[in-house]
Amino acid sequence: MRKSLPGAATLAALAVLSSCSSPKPEPPKTMKIRKQPFGQTKNGESVELYTLTNRNGVETSITNYGGRVVTLKVPDRAGKFADVVLGFDTLDGYLGNSPYFGALIGRYGNRIGKAKFTLDGKEYKLAANNGPNALHGGVLGFDKVVWNGEQGAGEEPSLKLNYLSKDGEEGYPGNLSVTVVYTLTDRNELKIDYAASTDKDTVLNLTNHSYFNLAGEGVGDILNHEIMINADRFTPIDSGLIPTGELRPVKGTPFDLTKPVAIGAHINDKDQQILFGKGYDHNFVLNGGGLALAARVVEPKSGRVMEVLTTQPGVQFYTGNFLDGSVQGKGGKAYPHRSAFCLETQHFPDSPNKPDFPSVVLKPGEKFESTTVYRFTAR
Ligand code: BGC
Repeated sequence: MRKSLPGAATLAALAVLSSCSSPKPEPPKTMKIRKQPFGQTKNGESVELYTLTNRNGVETSITNYGGRVVTLKVPDRAGKFADVVLGFDTLDGYLGNSPYFGALIGRYGNRIGKAKFTLDGKEYKLAANNGPNALHGGVLGFDKVVWNGEQGAGEEPSLKLNYLSKDGEEGYPGNLSVTVVYTLTDRNELKIDYAASTDKDTVLNLTNHSYFNLAGEGVGDILNHEIMINADRFTPIDSGLIPTGELRPVKGTPFDLTKPVAIGAHINDKDQQILFGKGYDHNFVLNGGGLALAARVVEPKSGRVMEVLTTQPGVQFYTGNFLDGSVQGKGGKAYPHRSAFCLETQHFPDSPNKPDFPSVVLKPGEKFESTTVYRFTAR
């Protein structure tokens, strides 16, 4: 990194310091992040935009409104940068009709069947905001609240977001304290660390809903991107996109993405599951354990590669089937059908009603923790 020359005042201060016996102060190791105003919500709450830049010039900007990743600029094989996430230039876009662009999702990401669940013998009713089902935390989910933002600790640029979801908010029990740390590492990774604790038994499923197009946001569809998902099974769904409870082998189906295949290769197959999802809109049961590779996506023209690693047991692969060109994104660009994909690392949908799925219950005294990494390279 380029260092500026010390001015006269600094030299004088250094001379004083060197004449004292106390050790010289170390320069700060933490990479600074930039904070700018991003507007106000309809309730008059101020919202900020934080910009994180790593040593390679990779940059992301994130707002504390919904913890949304607004931009993510990464290089192609020739070193040319493009913003690879869909979104808006201004807060107003996010306050309007945004299909969860870049957002943190909670308290329960994905669907809960019939918008209700029973915990410790008590039934909890949620808002039915997706047909008869609950989707992505309800009417005012974590994507639509203002989080507290501050610079994170550590040497790499990071943003720490906190939110206290009150007991009964959107129908969920318990005061849930959530911390999400976004770190832009020098390996060109956007790392997301989630943590939560509660004062009553509750359920949770936290994820990030970034829409990616590795050719650049607004540059065509994603059907030629090649995907690999490290999953031998997926959770088939009914017509309302609620898992049936089965863990079905992917072998011999359009869901066998264990070897790289173009996203478009089977997306229009006359397969019942593909028809229910209107394309891919399914949870995959990851083979991993620990922080393991969940998926790899390659955009052949630019050579950009995104790898997703996670400690979570599942990932929702969604191919932007509900995008229809009606949303005007950055620079006024329309985002057409299947112009992005999402890889939402998560617990399985409808787990609160599926006792055989991995548990999503969090109890007082326990700490929920998970990590997801989106790693960018080029080939
Ligand atoms: C869901 C889709 C939904 C999308 C945006 C995804 O997580 O699986 O069905 O349309 O989010 O709302």
